[in-house]
Amino acid sequence: MINAKLLQLVIDASNDGIVVAEQEGDDNILIYANRAFERLTGYAVDDILYQDCRFLQAGDRAQPGLDAIRQAVHEHRPCRQVIRNYRKDGTPFWNELSITPVLNEADQLTYYIGIQKDVTEQVEAQQRVRELEAELTAVKAELEALRAGKA
Ligand SMILES: Cc1cc2nc3c(=O)[nH]c(=O)nc-3n(C[C@H](O)[C@H](O)[C@H](O)COP(=O)(O)O)c2cc1C
Repeated sequence: MINAKLLQLVIDASNDGIVVAEQEGDDNILIYANRAFERLTGYAVDDILYQDCRFLQAGDRAQPGLDAIRQAVHEHRPCRQVIRNYRKDGTPFWNELSITPVLNEADQLTYYIGIQKDVTEQVEAQQRVRELEAELTAVKAELEALRAGKA
């Protein structure tokens, strides 16, 4: 069995954010965040402990992914969604967030583990592909119209 110190070292070496939250009323408050979470969000652990992670949304709450997360957390189900978040300096990033409830031996919910992956490059590339597809469709339609005009 891996010892606690090595486990901490390994989790801190992760490229992705890893947090542990504890349910407290309607909130899930952070009781642990690794180094990658600090790097990704710009927040120091000591400044965000015991807060619900929704502060990363900075008021940008009208997101379908958040409805799915709220529902899954409420029903103690795991979930994975891509949502918009904001760093401490206000810059936005796309967060592929995976949340898993962790049950204790008595099968009572005690904690949630959250993994945050920065997928900004992928999401922006997908958005660009969609824009280019729309442009291509418009150009094709113009070409068709020109051909039809000549015929
Ligand atoms: C372990 C865990 C990690 C979370 N990490 C994030 C996060 O990185 N960014 C975020 O916007 N929300 C995160 N959330 C989701 C929010 O805490 C909250 O569940 C979500 O905003 C929906 O609920 P609300 O409408 O009450 O805010 C996390 C939740 C849990 C349980």
